[in-house]
Amino acid sequence: MRFEGKAGLVTGAGSGIGRATAKGFAARGGAVAVADINGDNANRVVAEITAAGGKAIAIIADVTRSGDIDMMISRTVHELGRLDFLHNNAFGFSAMPGVSAVAATADTDDRMWNATLDVGLTAVFRAIKRAVPVMRAQGSGSIVNTASISGLYADYGIVAYNAAKAGVVNLTRVAAIEYARLGIRVNCICPGAIDTPLLAGAAQPAMLKKFNEVIPMGRLGRPEEMANVILFLASDLASFVTGSAYVADGGQTAKTGSPSFLPE
Ligand SMILES: NC(=O)c1ccc[n+]([C@@H]2O[C@H](COP(=O)([O-])OP(=O)(O)OC[C@H]3O[C@@H](n4cnc5c(N)ncnc54)[C@H](O)[C@@H]3O)[C@@H](O)[C@H]2O)c1
Repeated sequence: MRFEGKAGLVTGAGSGIGRATAKGFAARGGAVAVADINGDNANRVVAEITAAGGKAIAIIADVTRSGDIDMMISRTVHELGRLDFLHNNAFGFSAMPGVSAVAATADTDDRMWNATLDVGLTAVFRAIKRAVPVMRAQGSGSIVNTASISGLYADYGIVAYNAAKAGVVNLTRVAAIEYARLGIRVNCICPGAIDTPLLAGAAQPAMLKKFNEVIPMGRLGRPEEMANVILFLASDLASFVTGSAYVADGGQTAKTGSPSFLPE
């Protein structure tokens, strides 16, 4: 898997899965735009990539702002020359005074719902909208969206996240079929529980331990393990793959949820 001569843009690349993807893309010869709302983290990832001999630029962008999406796509094209790979990956739970990010459906605050949909779904829609004309002119391109197993099945207490990620899965399919004949592939990855600051911030320590019990592999995933799948989907090796929702979850969603028939 090599990306020489290709340019990529990864959102939420200052940390976790996005950081691993940006680093992996650059390590395989691609030039990458590291976009994040957190400028210090974006600059740190660019420094890591350039220290390893790769090519990267930092872009400070808030994907909930339409103007920032225009800016990050046009800067990538102007400064790196192309847009072969777009990874829509940024996400953060909004911190709102007096409002919990975790609540049952009927107790979910409208503002929390809207903020979650803005960063988790609308931003992905807008970035695809801006990237397609560029990729259409090139005659090729690969978009990979970070959805989640939470977009395929339900969790307790994070309804807006479940709805946003389900939206990403079907948005991926629609864009995939609409642009398949233009040489643009669109796929998404559905990670399970991955060891990143996002999960550590969302889950209590006791809950983190329980993940080891519910994941057949008995451990959280690593960001690099998601990057490997994302980069495969981005690469020419996946030339006949479009509209897919690729699950990478250590076996978590392979289960029915029934108790074990095996003796204890
Ligand atoms: N960690 C998991 O268990 C898990 C599981 C399934 C899906 N995901 C998804 O993976 C993606 C990456 O998450 P992660 O676990 O690597 O988390 P992370 O917190 O390590 O990284 C997320 C990055 O997104 C950035 N970000 C947040 N809001 C932004 C905004 N408005 N504009 C631009 N950047 C913004 C953050 O600054 C951060 O650098 C997310 O879409 C998340 O929903 C994560």
